[in-house]
Amino acid sequence: MADTTSDPGPTPYGDYDFIVVSNRLAVDRVVVDGQSDWRRSPGGLVTALAPVMEHADGAWVGWHGAAGEPLDEFDHSGMHLVPVELSAREVELYYEGFANATLWPLYHDVIAPPEFHRTWWDAYRRVNRRFAEASAMAAAEGATVWVQDYQLQLVPAMLRQLRPDLRIGFFNHIPFPPLEIYAQLPWRQQVLEGLAGADLIGFQRPGDAQNFTRCVRRFLGAASRQGVFTMTDENGAERRVEARSFPISIDSRHIAELARDEEIIERSRQIRHELGDPTTLLLGVDRLDYTKGIPERLKAFGELLEDHRVSVEDCTLVQVASPSRERVEHYKTLRDEVESTVGRINGTYDTLEKTAIRYLHQSYPVEEMVALYLAADVLLVTALRDGMNLVAKEYVAARTRNDGVLVLSEFTGAAEQLRQALLVNTHDIDGVKNAIVRAIHMEPRETARRMRAMRKQVLEHDVKRWSSDFLSALQERR
Ligand code: G6P
Repeated sequence: MADTTSDPGPTPYGDYDFIVVSNRLAVDRVVVDGQSDWRRSPGGLVTALAPVMEHADGAWVGWHGAAGEPLDEFDHSGMHLVPVELSAREVELYYEGFANATLWPLYHDVIAPPEFHRTWWDAYRRVNRRFAEASAMAAAEGATVWVQDYQLQLVPAMLRQLRPDLRIGFFNHIPFPPLEIYAQLPWRQQVLEGLAGADLIGFQRPGDAQNFTRCVRRFLGAASRQGVFTMTDENGAERRVEARSFPISIDSRHIAELARDEEIIERSRQIRHELGDPTTLLLGVDRLDYTKGIPERLKAFGELLEDHRVSVEDCTLVQVASPSRERVEHYKTLRDEVESTVGRINGTYDTLEKTAIRYLHQSYPVEEMVALYLAADVLLVTALRDGMNLVAKEYVAARTRNDGVLVLSEFTGAAEQLRQALLVNTHDIDGVKNAIVRAIHMEPRETARRMRAMRKQVLEHDVKRWSSDFLSALQERR
């Protein structure tokens, strides 16, 4: 390995030929009964990338979820993890602030109003630089570095400056907004320049890639053709950057294998039994996030009970809402709203034996999730906007007997691939209600026809294919 310590820009080469960089590592550091332990991190990004990294001989650079705790590199579940430290103040300004109260709502159709604060932006830049430096330190000469998601959009350009020898990819797991919305961002140009440091920028949907390309044309003045645009570096050298869609997926085979495990099948029976063996079990599984359309789903279900189109005697909704970003204001408000709605519906319709909604503000290991998927006759995904929604794909992968109905919001990336779901416009409460009733009464033949087609899609397009498609496209770029 070459030693460049005598170079003027003294970033020495590291050991890894392949590096993934994301805000979160695959595991979070947690303290249980005074003992520190590791727990799988929340969200779709980790769900998708962990199986890729467990089989790749590379390093994963990211935050370990605990504020103000420096930590050495370590190995976990076959992955080499390189922790990046964030102070409590940085968690507040960069993570809770700029990432999750500016960018997240801005990129999700301004469902909640984004806030713009210069102190948050300064922290975002500072933290992105730290991630870029940590990645530059870990990367071998000519390595491939794959930067993930909206928290780290400045990293590609910062990294290119530190290490021009690297091949750099970026993947945005969330939607990229239309130009008219993106235009609100006071730092719109700097963010685009940050992303354009990559050789290849991946998005979930073709529409996201188009939105991005339009913004690049407008705010960077770069000419583009078929998603490829030209950037001119400080020294006048031209570089081509491509923006394209690569819809992400899951480790479908692993989920299907779990779904065939006798213990998990038995657990799914037990779940139904403990819920009083309802004729129909509806399921919702989400991070407790205002993009997920949980209040709309509850409203639809509550009205169905009120209209006597479903009855608590034979239908139960299980809603798993895993805790998320709990110190961010809009998440607190959402939690209050969801919990008071659940309380009101249950208070009105529960009997001593039966409950309308079993609400669980918790997260569960994958085995328990698969048991829930197997137990549920219908999965309700009613997001108002979602980059992909991997829960929908997990449900499909788990239904090895081609039964079960997926009600899926049109506003998810998954709706572009799972066309045989019952697609709904979440804002249209009557439409959602009708879809739920249709799902409950769907004939087994129609259910099987739809599920078979969706399973074929999900099994053929798994996360390994997603990463190899992206990485081979990146390979071709330079
Ligand atoms: C989404 C984002 C991820 C994020 C995850 C969990 O899936 O795309 O980047 O990690 O949510 O959110 P959190 O803020 O807990 O990391």
